[in-house]
Amino acid sequence: ALERTFSIIKPDATRRNLTGKIVAKFEDAGLRVVASKRIQMTLAQAQAFYGVHSERPFFGELCEFMISEPVVVQVLEGEGAIAKNREVMGATNPSDAAAGTIRAEFAESVGENSVHGSDAPETAAEEIAFFFSGLELVG
Ligand code: CMP
Repeated sequence: ALERTFSIIKPDATRRNLTGKIVAKFEDAGLRVVASKRIQMTLAQAQAFYGVHSERPFFGELCEFMISEPVVVQVLEGEGAIAKNREVMGATNPSDAAAGTIRAEFAESVGENSVHGSDAPETAAEEIAFFFSGLELVG
């Protein structure tokens, strides 16, 4: 089914000017960018967005990293978009990521791993609504 997922191009990638190369990988896989903005997250936003990880030892480091430089938040649409996006990203830890994936090619470490993507339909809906209003989604 036609699905939407939420994506973040993280600070390590925006800093190295990799936004276009990353978006090209999504588009080549059949995903369409239906909303996109470059923002600098506030600490409160990062902490709320990653709230499910608040008890993890890396939570502080994760939030500081995500606010360290601008990010690009996007909504991607396509057939099976959630799974497709995860396939194109590759495993969370770049050392486990399959060849040709974004994280294999660009990520620097498990923390600075270039992209975030929603893991399920419910989280996709929540994450999209966290950053975008309905009017900003143009399918
Ligand atoms: P993301 O999909 O954005 O969701 C949570 C993030 O936590 C994950 O990607 C990783 O970048 C980050 N993360 C996971 N494990 C670690 C770790 N051991 N150290 C630092 N960051 C981590």
